[in-house]
Amino acid sequence: MKLFSANLDSLRDLYHNQLRMLLSTEQQIVDALPTMLEKATDPQLKQAFQSHLQETRVHVTRLQDILRQENREVDAIKCKVLSALVSEAEDMIKDATDLTVRDVALIAAAQRVEHYEIASYGAVRRWAQILGRQGQAALLDQTIKEEGHADHLLTSIADRVNVEADKAA
Ligand SMILES: [Fe+2]
Repeated sequence: MKLFSANLDSLRDLYHNQLRMLLSTEQQIVDALPTMLEKATDPQLKQAFQSHLQETRVHVTRLQDILRQENREVDAIKCKVLSALVSEAEDMIKDATDLTVRDVALIAAAQRVEHYEIASYGAVRRWAQILGRQGQAALLDQTIKEEGHADHLLTSIADRVNVEADKAA
């Protein structure tokens, strides 16, 4: 029984730790998206970044609300993966002089971020369910759905922009 409790405690600790890391993930996305929006040329892509920026601000708030419900600190633990993805994105777009190719690179970078988020949120949503936090699991599920929607929208924009970039070559 003691071991069982220890495991539960440990999963709860991991849950809190990863929520705080996801908070950093989302905060870094809030910081990065305005630049991506500015660098994008395609109007539909700009619009997609703009609406995802608004959604991402809500994702930050959701994570802070969950951490407060858990009586945990709402300070973030730095997500190193996002820093690396942002730095790779900067490398990819800085040398792209063709505007359509730059859009293609921006979409590729953004989709990597979405997939990383979906994977990370998928794990914490499951832990929330196991820990009996059904309300929190539902909030996390809402975020995952929005990330999924953003990803699908980017795929549909890419289907068009990739072809345009290839024609421009
Ligand atoms: Fe997000």
